[in-house]
Amino acid sequence: MSKRFTITAALPYTNGPIHIGHLAGVYVPADIYARYLRLQGHDVAFICGSDEHGVPITIKAKKEGVTPQDIVDHFHANIKMSFEEFGISFDNYSRTSAEIHHETASEFFKTLYHKGDFIEETTAQLYDAEAGQFLADRFVVGTCPKCGNEESYGDQCEACGTSHNATDLINPKSAITGATPSLKETKHWFLPLDKHEAFLKEWILEGHKADWKPNVYGQCKSWIDDGLRPRAVTRDLDWGIPVPVEGGDGKVLYVWFDAPIGYISSTKEWAQREGKDWEPYWKDKNTTLVHFIGKDNIVFHCIIFPAMLKAEGSYILPENVPANEFLNLEGQKLSTSKNWAVWLPEYLKDFPEKQDVLRYVLTATAPETKDNDFTWKDFQARNNNELVAIFGNFINRVLVLTNKYYDGIVPRPNALSVIDTDTLEKVKAYPGILSKSIERYRFREASQELMNLARLGNKYLADEEPWKVVKTDPERVQTIMYIALQISAALAVVCEPFLPWSSTKLKSMLQLHPHSWAAVERGEKLLEPDHQIGKAELLFAKIEDSEIEKQLEKLAQSKLANTIANAVVEPQKETISFEDFSKLDIRVGTIIAAEKMPKAKKLLVLQVDTGIDVRTIVSGIAESFTAEEVLGKRVTVLVNLAPRALRGVESQGMILMTETPEGKLVFVNPDAAHETTNGLKIS
Ligand code: 2FM
Ligand code: ZN
Repeated sequence: MSKRFTITAALPYTNGPIHIGHLAGVYVPADIYARYLRLQGHDVAFICGSDEHGVPITIKAKKEGVTPQDIVDHFHANIKMSFEEFGISFDNYSRTSAEIHHETASEFFKTLYHKGDFIEETTAQLYDAEAGQFLADRFVVGTCPKCGNEESYGDQCEACGTSHNATDLINPKSAITGATPSLKETKHWFLPLDKHEAFLKEWILEGHKADWKPNVYGQCKSWIDDGLRPRAVTRDLDWGIPVPVEGGDGKVLYVWFDAPIGYISSTKEWAQREGKDWEPYWKDKNTTLVHFIGKDNIVFHCIIFPAMLKAEGSYILPENVPANEFLNLEGQKLSTSKNWAVWLPEYLKDFPEKQDVLRYVLTATAPETKDNDFTWKDFQARNNNELVAIFGNFINRVLVLTNKYYDGIVPRPNALSVIDTDTLEKVKAYPGILSKSIERYRFREASQELMNLARLGNKYLADEEPWKVVKTDPERVQTIMYIALQISAALAVVCEPFLPWSSTKLKSMLQLHPHSWAAVERGEKLLEPDHQIGKAELLFAKIEDSEIEKQLEKLAQSKLANTIANAVVEPQKETISFEDFSKLDIRVGTIIAAEKMPKAKKLLVLQVDTGIDVRTIVSGIAESFTAEEVLGKRVTVLVNLAPRALRGVESQGMILMTETPEGKLVFVNPDAAHETTNGLKIS
């Protein structure tokens, strides 16, 4: 029976492009779910849009000397375009700067205001006198009262996920001037979460213990057990939706008050365009509402937004909030500021027409129950060993053989063997297996089951060996190829939620008419005998080592740039006069003999030809170079350094060395064109 679903995906902040962490955590699973429901014949509104308010956008605009509107216009276009090119099938992608959103959020606020659902209170808030502004959210950094993280933001600690008030921070500092803020009185409106505690306890702790993911349920339980407190839903900022009630001048709605309402306004925008009524998608008890989010958004979607919806009174509540954990990249936390990410627009440029490869890899390694790691080697391996070697290989064999034996015409089967009927029975079971995983939000498991269906096809061909049997029993081969074609068609239908681009390509290769998920489940004949299929094309292409190396090199560049940016550069020593400098007698020499100083880990004893003499220099470089490595090397030598005895050997000068940004010791090489140095060091 067709049901109505409202599926939302977290509205991304418009202060940067989309990266693989966003995709794996939210957009790929949400898209699989929405596509799956559509294939099942359900009525789906898959909703998203840009989150264009909030302090990070103002901070970025300030840093770049442009307006917040410039920032959001740029990234809204960038994000919208990359989602489209990637194939995320939103029914509507809106933005929170849209008029319809300002109206919807203002109305929502006014409704709660007039119903008396807010506490209006003048309290002391953090204020930066130097900047002349209150310090909300990311404008203030301090120690998290819960976990001790010293870089917690005013509204949320990214280390432990706690959501708090800015005044809760220990040792707060302004992110604008670095000053310690003072307290200044200001009026705000608070949502009394404590008043909703009983309802939240019953709804989540009793109602969703069994069906919400343990990570989501656990976080909710811990917040509720800690006791809920009123949360300010307005801010003293100038970027956002103006507070639409008396006394609201110069204040805006808190971004986390307006953003989730963005799901509603985006649905309205879609309904207007499609000539539909938006209300059943948010107000009809028979509609299933599901929010796809990352774990840092749990409190807002499970506690605050439901409390707002409940207070308003006419809305349904989410049936599930399948939040994912975080994705790391090559063992390190993804970071926008450190450019430690795989950016979607760059991926689409570097791997054109490989959207499905990334979708597949991000699904197969999705951080569903714990943080997970994306590596480029794994990306290559999953493409080459699974998509190409299993799925693509099966399809290719079926299409090539059908074209070769029957000019691309689906053969008429003869009597089916037990293996044939068993195989068809197994194929028929796959939609059910996949549904079970998808409906429990286990997309990772589902992607592996999909691959198992392709494995089944490969095994069938490998066991039945049509390429051998064709010489002795062509009638049997007709049956084998007929069955292999049915498996290919089943794959084309059920892979659509996971691999939409490949599904389209495969359907076109098979010239397959549209079939529903249920048709595969019922074991219907998907390709009739005598049906003409198209030519074989490669469904997936191998990814070469060089392509992976290029990506790893990009990351190495980011790492290097960060090392340089974070390098602790020793302060310059006291200034010396030119007269002092001219006392240094620096010459080019050649190391003509070298040996390790016995029982000294760091020392090499060198004989250096300086052009004026051959002298002994004891150098502390043995941990970086062996005696053999330095032999014959041309070096820069300070020859008039006062002699000094080291372990009983008189050292008559010094070899000049420097360090690379990574801290590797290198010679000041008189013959090198140039060297990257990080300050000269004398060893
Ligand atoms: O974490 C984020 O990227 C937020 N912009 C998500 C907002 S989700 C919703 F509530 F709008
Ligand atoms: Zn914390």
